[in-house]
Amino acid sequence: MDNHKSYLKTLESNAIKSLETLQTLEEIENWRIEYLGRKGKLSQFFQSFKDIKNENKNELGTIANDLKISLEQYYKKKINSIQSSKLKINEIFDYSLPGKPNISGSIHPTIQMMNEICNAFSSLGFNIYEGPEIESEEYAFDKLNIPSNHPARDIWDTIWVENTQELESLLLRPHTSPMQIRIMEKYPPPIRVVVPGKCYRYEATDNTHEWHFHQIEGLVVDTNINFANMKSTLFEFARLIFGEQTKARFRCDFFPFVEPGAEMSVNIKDDEWLELMGAGMVHPKVLQNVNLDPEIYSGFAFGLGIERVAMIRFGINNIRDFYSNDFQFLRQFN
Ligand code: PHE
Repeated sequence: MDNHKSYLKTLESNAIKSLETLQTLEEIENWRIEYLGRKGKLSQFFQSFKDIKNENKNELGTIANDLKISLEQYYKKKINSIQSSKLKINEIFDYSLPGKPNISGSIHPTIQMMNEICNAFSSLGFNIYEGPEIESEEYAFDKLNIPSNHPARDIWDTIWVENTQELESLLLRPHTSPMQIRIMEKYPPPIRVVVPGKCYRYEATDNTHEWHFHQIEGLVVDTNINFANMKSTLFEFARLIFGEQTKARFRCDFFPFVEPGAEMSVNIKDDEWLELMGAGMVHPKVLQNVNLDPEIYSGFAFGLGIERVAMIRFGINNIRDFYSNDFQFLRQFN
């Protein structure tokens, strides 16, 4: 009797141990045949039953039956676990699927252009500063020689900020020129700076106008600065950005904070010119507003639209593309 019992025990532990190591469905099927099959070890045990004494049959029968049931359960579990791990492996390692693209952002074309322009000016000896996007009326207009009754304010018709304290009128800056004043108030000449930044205007949009856009302000103040210095600096800038062959032209223009004033255009095709910037010699009144003596100091200033430069450089027809967040458009500048 004890012999039989220990035989069943060993059978059980051997069966379970060997089942654990099996990997393939084929191996498990062989295991099933070996232990649970028609001619398997358990069947053989039941066949040898007739030789067992009657009084032990009941107990041994129960043990053997329980063993059969439990081995069948082990077998089913094993099959399930093999099948589900196969499923997992298939899910993770389906080599036929295309890889997931690694989407990374890139620098916006406006900012790419801004960096390039800043680098060009920095190679010409300019420092780079930034200023506030919300400006006071005083800096945006008054100190730049644009009094409140001046019709020139109309071109900078802009977006005012509701000011609860009513101490001063604030606005989203319509140009970067207020930084001319802030720089001159803070630093003594010689001054050579460019100031990139965002600007806002209350403006109907079209292919070349946006209500928000970027400018780069330039300012040079020193003794003996003249119009020729301005022209040569800006020509050199145009060549750095658009290439050695670039032609540029200056024509008279009016801005209250410069005298004389000009606009500079570059030649984009045979007979096509695109206005890039306003420029001119710093107005004596502006120098006086920051306590610089116009008899001693002179300077030039310029303000150029960054998107305009980018439009020429990249061949973009519509300034609104820069702000459309259109992936098709933006990905071209990766
Ligand atoms: N601030 C002018 C504009 O926004 C451009 C400009 C800057 C003109 C400096 C002359 C000198 O149109």
